[in-house]
Amino acid sequence: MDNSSKIILDLCGGTGSWSRPYREHGYDVRIITLPYYDVRTYKPPKNVYGILAAPPCTHFSIACAPLWREKDLTGQTAQALEIVYSCLRIVNECKPGLHFWALENPRGRLHKFIGAPTYKFNQSDFGAPYFKPTWLWGDFNTLIIQGPINDNPCRLDECTNLYDLPDDYNLNIDHCKRAARRSIYPPAFCDAFFQANQ
Ligand SMILES: C[S@@+](CC[C@H](N)C(=O)[O-])C[C@H]1O[C@@H](n2cnc3c(N)ncnc32)[C@H](O)[C@@H]1O
Repeated sequence: MDNSSKIILDLCGGTGSWSRPYREHGYDVRIITLPYYDVRTYKPPKNVYGILAAPPCTHFSIACAPLWREKDLTGQTAQALEIVYSCLRIVNECKPGLHFWALENPRGRLHKFIGAPTYKFNQSDFGAPYFKPTWLWGDFNTLIIQGPINDNPCRLDECTNLYDLPDDYNLNIDHCKRAARRSIYPPAFCDAFFQANQ
C-alpha cells in the first residue's frame, strides 16, 4: 500500500522510536523534537493523518512526586504544561481529518491537568526489561495486542539492560544519557500500536 501521502507527526519524538513502524511502512513521518523543532511554536501542515506525542514527563512522573510542590513553586510545572498544551493545540489544529492521536506519559499526575488517560499499560507487557506503568491519552484504537510479556521486569532505576540505539535514530548525542534511553519505547509496543492504528 502506498502510505506516502499520510503525514504522521511525532511530537517530542526524541529518537523517533514510536513512529518507527510508520516510517518503515512508508508513511510521511515528521519528528517534531528539540533541538530541531519546538512544539511551542510549531505550525502543523494540512492533512495530518495521525499524531503521536511524548512530552517530557520529568515534572509529572510519580518518580518525582516528592518534588512536585517545589516544581510548582519554581514554575517548572507550568513550563512542562506549556509543552503538553502545545501538543494538544497541534492536535486541535489538525482536526477534523485526523485519523488518530495519542499522547504518552508515565504514571504520575498529568491526569490532574488533562483528565483521565484512555489506556494504561506497563512497558514490561511489551517485553521491556523494566517495570514502567505508562498512560496514553487520545483518540485511537485501544485494541493494542500485548506481548511478548516480560515476566521478570526490574525497577527502572535498577535496569542495566536498556535498549541499544539503532544507528538511524536522530538522538542528539549530548542527551544520550540513561533518561533518554529509558524514554525509548519498547519496539513491541510501537509495533502493536501501529498494528492497531493505521
Ligand atoms: C519523553 S522524551 C520522548 C522520547 C521518545 N519516546 C524517544 O523515543 O526518544 C521527550 C522528548 O521531547 C523533547 N522536547 C522537550 N521539549 C520539547 C519542545 N518544546 N518541543 C519539541 N520537543 C521537545 C526532548 O528533547 C525529548 O527528546
